[in-house]
Amino acid sequence: MTKVITYGTFDLFHAGHYRLLERAKALGDYLIVGVTTESFDKARGKLNVVDSLVTRMENVKKTGFADEIIIEESVGQKFSDIKKYGIDIFTVGSDWRGKFDYLNDYCKVVYLERTKDISSTMLREKQRSIQRVGIIGTGRIAGRFVQEIKSVSGVEGQSVYNPHIESAKRFAATWDMTHCDNLQDFLNGVDLVYVASPHETHYEYSKAAIEAGKHVICEKPMALKKSHAEELFDMAKNKGVYFFEGIKTAYCPGFHKLIGVACSGRIGAIRNIEACFTKLENPNTRELTDVNYGGSFLELGSYVLLPMLKIFGAEYEDLRFESIWGDNGLDLFTKTSFRFSHGIATATCGLGVKSEGRLLIAGTKGYIVVGAPWWKTEYFEVHYEDPDKIEKYTESFLGYGLRYEISDFLSQLGKEKNDFKLTRSESVAMAGIMEKFLEEKHSLHRLDRFLR
Ligand code: CTP
Repeated sequence: MTKVITYGTFDLFHAGHYRLLERAKALGDYLIVGVTTESFDKARGKLNVVDSLVTRMENVKKTGFADEIIIEESVGQKFSDIKKYGIDIFTVGSDWRGKFDYLNDYCKVVYLERTKDISSTMLREKQRSIQRVGIIGTGRIAGRFVQEIKSVSGVEGQSVYNPHIESAKRFAATWDMTHCDNLQDFLNGVDLVYVASPHETHYEYSKAAIEAGKHVICEKPMALKKSHAEELFDMAKNKGVYFFEGIKTAYCPGFHKLIGVACSGRIGAIRNIEACFTKLENPNTRELTDVNYGGSFLELGSYVLLPMLKIFGAEYEDLRFESIWGDNGLDLFTKTSFRFSHGIATATCGLGVKSEGRLLIAGTKGYIVVGAPWWKTEYFEVHYEDPDKIEKYTESFLGYGLRYEISDFLSQLGKEKNDFKLTRSESVAMAGIMEKFLEEKHSLHRLDRFLR
C-alpha cells in the first residue's frame, strides 16, 4: 500500500484545495491530510485565517479523498509524521517547490501544479469590507504600522494625514501612499483610520474619524480624560463603527496566553502584580521635551497598567503616584501603587531611570515571571514553592507586533463586538488614571512654583 501525506490550512475551502487533494489521493492508496492549528498558523505569520480548525477539517473530510485527517501543530512535525505513519510520498502544491526537498531522504517528494487564479488569500480579500487604511501622524510608530499592515491580507496603507504637509509628503513617499492636506477629504477616502498623532490630539482626531463613520484604531493613550474615552466609545457605538485602543501587548499571543494561565487558578488567587517598563530616551526627544504631554507615564503607562487592569479589573480602591521629576517638570520615572479589593499592584515606568523591566504575578500557590521585554511576551515561567517545579511557556511574537491588533480588529468586523482582549472598561479606566496623573502633576507643579 502506498501512503501519501499532504498538509495545508485549507481556509475558505476552494477549488484549488479540492484539485490538490484529488491528485494527492491519486498518487497512492491511502491519503493522510494534515490540517494546521490556529496557533501554528499564527506562529508562522498566517494571521487572518477565517475558518476554525473544525470547519477546515470538516471541509477536507467532505471531499472524500482523505483516509485520515491529522492536526499539524508545530515545525518539524512533517518529518516525524513521515516516520510515524510510514509515508511513501509527501506532496504539496508547486508554490512550495524546493522548500521540502530535505524530506527526499525519508520519502518521495512530489510538488503538484498549483491551480491558477484561486487562493484563500484572494477569497479573504474579497470578503473584507475594510481595505483602505488611513494614518494620522507620521512618527516612528506610524511607519511601523504601515509595515505591519503588509503582514495582514486584505488591507493596505492608502493615505496619510498630518497638518505638517512636508512630513505627510515625506511619509507618503517613503511608504508608497498618498497624502491628503484636508482632514475631511482624507477621512472620506479611507475605511479605517489609525490615529498615531501626538497624545493630546488623539481625542479630537478619533472623534472626527468616528463622526465621519470610519472605524478607528487609536494609539495609546487613547484619551487623557475618562469622559473623553467614554464619549468616543459611545459615539462609535451610535455610529456603528468599531473603535479600539492600540496597545499592542494586549493583542500579542504570548501576553494573551499569559493572562489565560494567570487566571486559570494555576498559581492560586492572585494577590500582587508588579509591572515595570523602562526605556532610556535621548533627552532631546519629544518624550522628554514636551512639557505638557511628554514624560514616562504618558509614554509607557498604558503598558504597565495593562496586566493589573486585566487581572484585577478596572475598579481599584486606591491609587498613588510617586515620580522623579526632571528640571522641565516631566516625570523621568513614575511608580503607581494600587489597592484592589483582592490584591495590590505596582506599575513602574521610566524614560530617565533604568530598571529591570519585568512582570511578576504572585498568587497563593505560585507566581508567574516574565523578563523584559514582557510587553512583547514570547516566554514566561510559572514557579511554585518547590523550586524544581518550573513550567515554561513560549509563543512567537512577529515583527513589531502591531499585526496582531490589526488582524484582530479585522476579524471582529461584522461580528457581534467582542473586545475581550482590551475592553472598553479597561481603556476607560486607563484614560481615568492618565487624567488623575496629569491633575496631580499640575497641582504639584503649581505648588512648587508657589513655594519658590
Ligand atoms: N493549493 C493549490 N492551488 C491553489 C491553492 C492552494 O494547489 N490555487 C494547494 C497548496 O499548494 C497546498 C494546499 O493547496 O498544497 C493547501 O494550501 P493552503 O495554503 O491551505 O491554501 P492557499 O489558498 O494557498 O492559502 P493562502 O492563500 O492562505 O496561502
